[in-house]
Amino acid sequence: MTGVLLAVCLLLQAAPVPTAPAGPAAPDAVVRPAGPAAGGWLTEQLAARVRRNPPLGPVPADPTNRWADSEAAAQLGHRIFFDERFSASGRVACSSCHDPAHGFSDPRPLAKGEGSGTRHSMRVLNVAHQRWFTWDGRADTLWSQAVQPFETPHEMNLPRAKVVARVAGDSVLRDAYLRAFGQAPPAADAAPAAVDAAFAQIGKALAAYERKLVSGPSAYDRWWTRRAAGDPKADQELTDAQRRGLALFFGKANCFQCHHGALFSDGEFHMLGVPPRDGGQPTDAGRYAVIERIRSDPFNAAGPHSDDPDGVQAHISASLVRTPDQWGEFRTPSLRNVAQTPPYMHAGQMATLPDVVRFYSTLEGATSLDHHRESVLTKLGLSASDQADLVAFLEALTGPLPGAPWGRPPG
Ligand code: HEC
Ligand code: HEC
Repeated sequence: MTGVLLAVCLLLQAAPVPTAPAGPAAPDAVVRPAGPAAGGWLTEQLAARVRRNPPLGPVPADPTNRWADSEAAAQLGHRIFFDERFSASGRVACSSCHDPAHGFSDPRPLAKGEGSGTRHSMRVLNVAHQRWFTWDGRADTLWSQAVQPFETPHEMNLPRAKVVARVAGDSVLRDAYLRAFGQAPPAADAAPAAVDAAFAQIGKALAAYERKLVSGPSAYDRWWTRRAAGDPKADQELTDAQRRGLALFFGKANCFQCHHGALFSDGEFHMLGVPPRDGGQPTDAGRYAVIERIRSDPFNAAGPHSDDPDGVQAHISASLVRTPDQWGEFRTPSLRNVAQTPPYMHAGQMATLPDVVRFYSTLEGATSLDHHRESVLTKLGLSASDQADLVAFLEALTGPLPGAPWGRPPG
């Protein structure tokens, strides 16, 4: 990535979105605490690092989707997300693989819809805070991701004209569409351009819904906020094992290096050398395979359906360049609520969090591809009790899932 682009990315990732409007501060402007101060077991170095992983702020604006914050659009998206009729067999909904009972993820290692996939269905939680979507980041907006599963053969396998026709042909969905966008969905014999436009709207409605799927404060967040406020009893929020795990995460285990920011993710792509499910050398090219696809996707941030085609995300996508070192890279996943969504890694290769931590500790089985694997990853050689402490810390990142109405099927 070029220096300029990196600078833009760093700016975009800059800490939580301020709650006060731009311009002179309103008298009641919420001033966020600077973060926990060092003291006791929290060394200066650790304190400086935990400040980079604050509680989640409000979801950032999405200028590419003018309906991002429309309640009516979210209601339409909510209905479609749970509706199995949007698939070839009539048996697969978004929620089949992103199940609220499993933290909006899927306990099966690999995705199974109309066919079988080669990747694990990742959590759809706090996704509105991300810039790239899916393990390889092949979508540059939340709404352009949302249209993909319909036509993916192993997911829902339903052509866009049928997706639009399903909405137009159901009185409840048709009304919801009309309320959201002020116009009815096009008729079954509509021209391809009208179908594409309505398909993009449906993606934007799903994205408006997904913006509601955020987790509440975890034990870590409560600890962070109370420490930042100078509460002398803040440490009670974490167990002894979780505090030791925190010190490892931000210290010698080096996890924060990629898992930083409010999401516990740098939003970037790395090759960890996670061994393929069936052994041998990896065949999934990850980030490398999708760069051209993002640039040519008619639903991308720069395309005719975007509401901000000259915006920052459009420029970032347009300046992507494919390089050999992207081969086998996957996006650093957020670690929020990670304890609720086994199995782990892009192909569900690891069944439990202790398995993940053991992998980082031993790098056993890691594929190296001519030493192309991330050089920051070194065998940590953690003791069994260190590993247990790290797992305990990861468990402190679980916050409440969204409840009714958004976290449940629509009534
Ligand atoms: C058959 C299972 C399946 C179905 C059905 C499905 N998904 Fe997914 N979803 C996945 C998988 C697998 C991934 C990761 C894809 C990849 O990396 O190639 C994913 C990724 C995502 C992501 C990216 C999350 C992130 O953190 O980047 C979002 C958002 C999402 N899906 C939303 C949806 C929506 C909306 C629908 C319905 C229109 C849907 N999915 C239908 C399996 C499914
Ligand atoms: C070099 C960057 C980097 C470092 C350092 C790093 N991670 Fe990761 N982490 C990733 C990436 C990238 C993935 C996804 C890899 C894949 O699927 O191939 C990942 C995946 C994970 C997952 C699985 C999440 C899921 O939803 O499947 C967990 C848990 C995790 N890391 C925890 C840790 C811990 C604990 C440490 C420190 C011991 C750590 N990571 C260090 C980049 C990193």
